[in-house]
Amino acid sequence: MSKHLLDIYNPFKVEFLYAKGSTLFDKKGKDYIDFTSGIGVNCLGHGNKKLVKTIANQAKKIIHVSNIYPIKTQEECAKKVALLSGYKNMQGFFCNSGAEANETAIKFIRKYAKCKGIKKHNIITLENSFHGRTLATLNATGQKDKQLGFEPFPNEFIYAKDVQDIKNKIDKNSVAVMLELIQGEGGIKAFDKKELQTLNQYLQEKGVLFVIDEIQTGVYRTGEFLASNFFELKPDIITMAKGLAGGLPIGLMMTKKINIFEKGDHGSTFGGNPLCTTTAVEVLTILEKKYRTKKIANTICLFQKKLEKIFKTNNELFSSKSGVGLMLGLKLKEEEKLQSLLEVCLKNQVLVLKSGKDIIRFLPALNISRKEINLGFKRFQKALDELK
Ligand SMILES: Cc1ncc(COP(=O)(O)O)c(C=O)c1O
Repeated sequence: MSKHLLDIYNPFKVEFLYAKGSTLFDKKGKDYIDFTSGIGVNCLGHGNKKLVKTIANQAKKIIHVSNIYPIKTQEECAKKVALLSGYKNMQGFFCNSGAEANETAIKFIRKYAKCKGIKKHNIITLENSFHGRTLATLNATGQKDKQLGFEPFPNEFIYAKDVQDIKNKIDKNSVAVMLELIQGEGGIKAFDKKELQTLNQYLQEKGVLFVIDEIQTGVYRTGEFLASNFFELKPDIITMAKGLAGGLPIGLMMTKKINIFEKGDHGSTFGGNPLCTTTAVEVLTILEKKYRTKKIANTICLFQKKLEKIFKTNNELFSSKSGVGLMLGLKLKEEEKLQSLLEVCLKNQVLVLKSGKDIIRFLPALNISRKEINLGFKRFQKALDELK
């Protein structure tokens, strides 16, 4: 336990000192295949030459300047995000993390409610959702065990059991519905496309804002730019973070509801600084090309094929497989085995994540190599054999 840090994480006993692609190296130079990409952040792996060059060049020019001066790359990045998302007209706000992007959305919804003259508004989220750890986003997170002990909350959230139940919960005070289209922390659960599209239509008719939390699902994680594109939805607000700047801290809220916030309504010291937004533009440029040339689709295809084989040959351990693109999960039949499996994977030099109580989660870099995929799954199978 550290003397000088809050004792809130429970880190594994391995420290990584350097990395290349999707391979991390510990102090002794031992290599580990990374199927986690820093929980969906290092979407281009480590040490990507173009990205490193962009970061170094920008750091030499200017790292940070306050938002009291214009930052051109914010405009460039927001425009790119809007176009890739399939929108002509969107306005964005840059911040530094996923929770902050959702916090911005929640504040934006309050302002929107005021503009509409709704005095006591509510926002509907799902019981099993995860939207962050700040007070408002923790309140939006429908998982009661995560909230316990941190009350009081802003209390504008109503929790629905599932997508179907959202409709039952909508009343005259409902201003927004906030959803992850594939629940990341809540067990790699993807919702039904038709059900989502029906909900999107219903919300449009009712004039209720549709807010999609794309923090884990965005930036081509599903194979499309956003999960909203994958499910063919047109939300009013999207929130992004994680992979957007390939490892630099960034958060972004984008909305098609123009000119709701006024001058002075919101702000962030670091949000959208030249280093992070220049890097984000480069990440999007690189990934857009990989998408167009089907490189991401090919990686998804190979990764899923290997995972399918693992699932089929280890059916005594796993009961189901879930997820989309490179956001995938294997459900363990016995949840007590989750922690041991994570540890035995580490011992066998392959890094995986957990989700919920019984899911092994895979969030590899979008450019993970064929060699790394093959070696990673070979090691994963070895870990499973050891667990059995
Ligand atoms: C769907 C979703 N929303 C919000 C967050 C919070 O993001 P951050 O940890 O950057 O604040 C996460 C983080 O895992 C997430 O997966």
